[in-house]
Amino acid sequence: MSILTATETEQRIKTEQLQPGVFIRLRDSWFDHPFLFNSLKIKTPAQIESLRKAGIAEVIYVPEKSDCQPLPLEQPKTAPAPPQKPAAPAPEDPVVKLLWQIKKERIEKLKEKQENLRKCIDNYNDTIQGIPDMMESMISGSQEAVGNAKILVTRIAAKFLTDDDSVMHLMAIKETEESIYHHSLNVSVLALMLGAKAGLSPIELRDLGMGALFHDIGKSKIDNKVLKKAPPLTKAEQNLIHLHPRYGVEIVAKGNDFPKNAALAILQHHEQYDGMGYPRHMKGEEISKLARIISIVNLYDTLCNDVDPKKAMNPYQALSFMYTKWKKALDPELVTLFIRSLGVYPPGTPVMLSNGVIALVMSVNPQNPMKPFLMLYDPDIPKSEAVMCEMEDLPEVTIEKSLRVENLPPEVCDYFNYTGKANYFVENIKGAGGGNV
Ligand SMILES: [Fe+2]
Repeated sequence: MSILTATETEQRIKTEQLQPGVFIRLRDSWFDHPFLFNSLKIKTPAQIESLRKAGIAEVIYVPEKSDCQPLPLEQPKTAPAPPQKPAAPAPEDPVVKLLWQIKKERIEKLKEKQENLRKCIDNYNDTIQGIPDMMESMISGSQEAVGNAKILVTRIAAKFLTDDDSVMHLMAIKETEESIYHHSLNVSVLALMLGAKAGLSPIELRDLGMGALFHDIGKSKIDNKVLKKAPPLTKAEQNLIHLHPRYGVEIVAKGNDFPKNAALAILQHHEQYDGMGYPRHMKGEEISKLARIISIVNLYDTLCNDVDPKKAMNPYQALSFMYTKWKKALDPELVTLFIRSLGVYPPGTPVMLSNGVIALVMSVNPQNPMKPFLMLYDPDIPKSEAVMCEMEDLPEVTIEKSLRVENLPPEVCDYFNYTGKANYFVENIKGAGGGNV
């Protein structure tokens, strides 16, 4: 079933004209050919041979993404031969058979992944919707809010503690609520991931989650005009903002059951390892471990999700920035563990693959952080059915580079639901049976 036509700059060419360096789109639907990609840059003669063996006689040549032009079409030297039949599919070819077998397995896996991701997004949306009420109740001193928050963070922590198949997954969704609630949930999920990797006990993790969820609750006592004011702030405004950790402790102290260690983490979440933080300029391990964890993930999330989208970094850039510019301010062991846990290309990083395809990192492969789980940009596949795959399944493909948010074409951002923001939740990667929190 041919579904594609060439655009103005693109041209239909014969498969025999291909050579390494030519970027092509296949003319068939993704489900009708045995290859994982609908579009790719030809790297090896073996790829051309596979296309030929799969009965693909024509492809679409994309000049702007190619390193070279296709070969000229060979002209017959004598009288024209009788019209050639189009190359017939050769399903009996063992290579093509194997490609089809792999493709079918990938389609099954893809359906399962898409279903898991949908469940995870529903779960995330349900959770995020409950957070504004939880914050309000906490501010008003409700004991119920403390209990509900404990249940929430314990559920998330349990996924990281007990389920080897759980991974932190990017939620590629358009935000519908105030970003402060997304930030609170992000910081909680990231902190719990890091806390679990650092070997915290279940009770320590619960306290860490509580501290992370309410780390900025003290900002509710500060005028929004000051909170939202673009820099530079006056000294008085800065001093006012620096009060929010103390205000936070005052608020949570109204709930008798609020864990003491979580309150301490709220008080210290802006202290820095080098003593340059606030409110008490504490240093190194004088700062509680829970606060040192929250300080790392809070910085990471703030860099990725800057209120000004033009300043927001992609997660790869954020980690590089933290490692180079903020290294002294953060606990060195914990920040190294954080970077190792998120992989070289953390979830939410748009990347260019070695075959010229743009992809979005969706989650880290815990067994192989260099080979994350990707969503592929393919304008010929509806975004609701976007192809997602483990890089482990693509031994011939590598990540060439991360892409800056501002360099992503709008149609790619739209395809990925990518707003330059990275929200995270926990997903069970094997998935069957509602493994999400
Ligand atoms: Fe804060």
